[in-house]
Amino acid sequence: MQRWYFRSTSVMIVRIWSSWLVQETTEKNDFAPEDVTKLHLDARDNKFMEFIPNIDVVVVSSGHWFAKQSVYVLNNEIVGGQLWWPDQSRPMKVNNVEAFGISVETVLSAILTQPNYTGLTIVRTFSPDHYEGEAWNTGGSCTGTENPLAPGELVENGFTNIMHEKQVWGFKRAVKKATNKSKLRFMDVTRIFGYRHDGHPGLYRSPDPNKMNKRGPDGRPLPQDCLHWCMPGPVDTWNELVLEIIRREFEGDRNSS
Ligand SMILES: *[C@@H]1O[C@H](CO)[C@@H](O)[C@H](O)[C@H]1NC(C)=O
Ligand SMILES: *[C@@H]1O[C@H](CO)[C@@H](O)[C@H](O)[C@H]1NC(C)=O
Repeated sequence: MQRWYFRSTSVMIVRIWSSWLVQETTEKNDFAPEDVTKLHLDARDNKFMEFIPNIDVVVVSSGHWFAKQSVYVLNNEIVGGQLWWPDQSRPMKVNNVEAFGISVETVLSAILTQPNYTGLTIVRTFSPDHYEGEAWNTGGSCTGTENPLAPGELVENGFTNIMHEKQVWGFKRAVKKATNKSKLRFMDVTRIFGYRHDGHPGLYRSPDPNKMNKRGPDGRPLPQDCLHWCMPGPVDTWNELVLEIIRREFEGDRNSS
């Protein structure tokens, strides 16, 4: 998507988009028509993997796209779907949360077994959202949240918790397949950033201030963004965590990790 090159330190930062981190196809597949995305849960995304051997530090994150429409394919068989399952009499074998866990195993084991990759991989865990009242697409809100939650005020979010659990599951399975040429670290931000319900754009979803009105033409509240983070904001701390992990790895300071 983008690259930034820092001449003073010869560092390049590259941003690579891969929505689900596994292979996507659109062609008709068995009973799934052309217009729904097929996710091959056991197949690496080669468009993203081709960059891997040339990178020293890879930070991977994923998860929220598993709330979007797609069809899950495993061993060439359609095993489930999200917001798409035409025949309710046919049982689904894999739901979106399980699909996420499988995808985590697939992408991490692909990275950890890439023969030419010797870098450091940091898995940034599932990012908590803070929609109150309704869901992300039905008018959920985070307006009025101006401070981080105090200890004891954290509201458990079942979806966030299970996504995190599946990520741990996929991570552990991938570690068993590692060939140990590269290093892997788990950067667990999920629970602690659950306290930062104040850190999302909320109403300020569009850079256009005229779109900041609270209601759409149909009188319903406009969708808010209680998922992405403001900058400056909580993600600045993620950068500091990444730099600290890198510093420890490259300075060999493992005792305090
Ligand atoms: C690894 O590197 C070698 C030598 O450059 C190359 O021939 C091979 O195709 C690479 N393998 C993969 C899987 O990237
Ligand atoms: C990788 O390292 C771990 C920990 O040192 C070890 O238990 C495992 O057997 C190694 N795996 C391979 C494939 O070398």
